[in-house]
Amino acid sequence: MDRFVIDGGVALRGRVETSGAKNSALPALAACLLTEDPVILHRIPRVKDIRTMIELLRHMGAAVEDSGNGPLTVTGGANLEPVAPYEVVKTMRASSLVLGPLVGRFRRARVSLPGGCAIGARPIDLHMRGLEQLGARIEQTHGYIEATAPNGLLGATVRFDRITVTGTEDILMAAVLARGETVIQNAAREPEVVDLAALLTKMGASIEGAGTPVIRIQGVERLHGAEHTIIADRIEAGTLAIGAAITGGDVEVAGCVPEHLTALCAKLRLAGVDVEATAPDVLRVRRTGPLRSVDMVTEEHPGFATDLQAQYMALMTQAEGIAIVSERIFENRFMHVPELARMSASIRIDGNQAIVAGPRRLTGAHVMASDLRASASLVLAGLVAEGQTIVDRVYHMDRGYENIEGKLAGLGARIRRERE
Ligand code: EPU
Repeated sequence: MDRFVIDGGVALRGRVETSGAKNSALPALAACLLTEDPVILHRIPRVKDIRTMIELLRHMGAAVEDSGNGPLTVTGGANLEPVAPYEVVKTMRASSLVLGPLVGRFRRARVSLPGGCAIGARPIDLHMRGLEQLGARIEQTHGYIEATAPNGLLGATVRFDRITVTGTEDILMAAVLARGETVIQNAAREPEVVDLAALLTKMGASIEGAGTPVIRIQGVERLHGAEHTIIADRIEAGTLAIGAAITGGDVEVAGCVPEHLTALCAKLRLAGVDVEATAPDVLRVRRTGPLRSVDMVTEEHPGFATDLQAQYMALMTQAEGIAIVSERIFENRFMHVPELARMSASIRIDGNQAIVAGPRRLTGAHVMASDLRASASLVLAGLVAEGQTIVDRVYHMDRGYENIEGKLAGLGARIRRERE
């Protein structure tokens, strides 16, 4: 198991390139199942979750050509075995993204139910109910979802009781090949949903309203191949921006979409950080003075992303005053708190709120990553901590950050990967 060894105390400086978005690349890869033609995808981040999705596609019989750092070509082909086995799904919940496209195109799917998760229960009941509304018959047996639609899916209105990102994506992918019109109400508005709709449209789908709470889809007979570039990873860009802020540095985060980071930028400015879009795809983040505490509540997009909550909390340990960080999306996403406390942070948890008192001088310690974004917060804390921090279980970070140690080292951080 790899670990990061970080010697804190260096202000990050320089320019860093953002990778393609993991959470956009995952549904894009699933969307390739909707056609037998090749789909060429650019800017796919080479992270563990993507490798898992590629493994799943290959397992079903799709051909995946990976040029290394360049584009990835996926050919769904005519005959796929529409099965997602437990062995793959248990390592990545986003595997459930294949459910919609498989039922849409092959009229049947057998997908393992994901099990527990470190950040919350995370059921996929809304995905299943949505598919049922499109006419699929869903049964659960032996830990698997068996979905069938012998006569194909039929367009319908699907209203989500609560906003779900991959649920919206799953139903969107199912609906593009359904007969007639589907209306998704209370849809997720995340940029990743918009990116998926853009890819599907290039493949021949008819979609209106992606990025708003109501998405309308007119089903088509078939989809064809396409070429698409994945959007920038706003969570990676946000993590790097917080890295600049927490270390009192000056960083240009290049190749990002500043409008996708509006909520974070607003908080950073209130906290006393200079944030400026110096080009349409560059955010310059600079801090020269002290940080002020600013409360934050996670929300669905365009609110503050839950995927940046842990990193923001690390930042607030360095801010003057009390910051209340409220987690509204997941019920158990404070696993980083006891680890930050081991680094001398002062944080008290009260239900879904963390009360962070700062500024505290963090001290390097041996800490353990519990999930993807929690590991990012520990790395950020390590960058400002006095002395050495060892972050264990870096495999969590490798699920979603492409060469993060290389990017941080390029900005001057003293970070290295050690293999145990
Ligand atoms: N929910 C249900 N039933 C469902 C679906 C969701 O109760 O059928 C609940 C969840 O348990 C959660 C809330 O609704 O409390 C929102 O969950 P959502 O479905 O939106 O999350 P997701 O689609 O499973 C995606 C990202 C997550 C990100 C969340 C929220 C991907 C592959 N994953 O998950 O990313 O935190 O949206 O923005 O897009 C990460 O990258 O670290 C990560 C966890």
